[in-house]
Amino acid sequence: MRSYTLIAPAKINLHLEILGARADGYHELVMILQSIDLSDEISVQASDRQAIRVRCDHPEVPADKSNIAYKAANLMATEFPAAFAKYGGVDITINKRIPVAAGLAGGSTNAAAVLVGIDLLWNLGLTQSELEELGAQLGSDVPFCVGGGTAIATGRGEQLSALPSLNNIYIVLAKYRSLAVSTPWAYKSYREQFGDSYLNDIHSLSERAAAIHSGPIVKAILNKDATEIAQKLHNDLERVVLPEYPQVLQLRETFASAGVLGTMMSGSGPSVFAICESQQQAEQVKLRVRETIPDEDLELFVTRMTSHGIQIASSV
Ligand code: C5P
Repeated sequence: MRSYTLIAPAKINLHLEILGARADGYHELVMILQSIDLSDEISVQASDRQAIRVRCDHPEVPADKSNIAYKAANLMATEFPAAFAKYGGVDITINKRIPVAAGLAGGSTNAAAVLVGIDLLWNLGLTQSELEELGAQLGSDVPFCVGGGTAIATGRGEQLSALPSLNNIYIVLAKYRSLAVSTPWAYKSYREQFGDSYLNDIHSLSERAAAIHSGPIVKAILNKDATEIAQKLHNDLERVVLPEYPQVLQLRETFASAGVLGTMMSGSGPSVFAICESQQQAEQVKLRVRETIPDEDLELFVTRMTSHGIQIASSV
């Protein structure tokens, strides 16, 4: 049976700004999304049963229809019924390395990998933008995960505008294994706490979204200047997550006192990343954080920014 093995990178948010609430329950956002080397490995294999099956080596990831990787395969089967009938079912195997429920798009990047893998398996020849459109039906971050790299994301996060890639900027990433933040909760809390002030501005949404292009974080990215980027990090959701989760605030403070270039929570958290001067500094910071917080529940990774989205590792 034919199969493809894909590398599916996580993402961090260099910028997350909430512009307004939408009638569909989502929020109008301006984000800068950045792929990082920390990746899951997904294999997508043809099977002779006319069914979709998901396996994952992580105990907290469901292997049923609620898994976004299953939903991605099901979407492909619905959109391309003739190919599904011709090529048979799909067995999906996920080797999880990206922390789950962490604000790192772990599920979204798995879904993106399944779209890319099935496109190959069924010889559909879809373009990147067709894959991104399918991805938008699965989750706001899925379109970005297809192509990865560095991009401005607007709308609910699915409208992408590519930026020049950032490579080899080293990151330390920290996440408590047992701590998970619900993304809907984070946005809902923001809406409840800060709704009035930002809803008033809803008329100037497109102007405010466009302003990012000439803003300081994009200038820093165009200059490929890690120090400048690190100083301009921003995440509105920290305003609701940090007061509720003191461990996240402690991670931010521990990174800051370890002398990193800059630190921020990613997405709706609870993972926190720190931008470092070099790989050597990143390794030292990791050790320093481990000494300060000797809690086995805390996972720490040294990783780096990458220009890659979903990549084919091998095919059989
Ligand atoms: O799109 P996705 O399913 O990944 O979003 C998860 C949840 O995050 C949504 O159900 C919604 O509560 C919140 N969200 C939002 N506005 C966005 C993106 C996500 O409110 N732009």
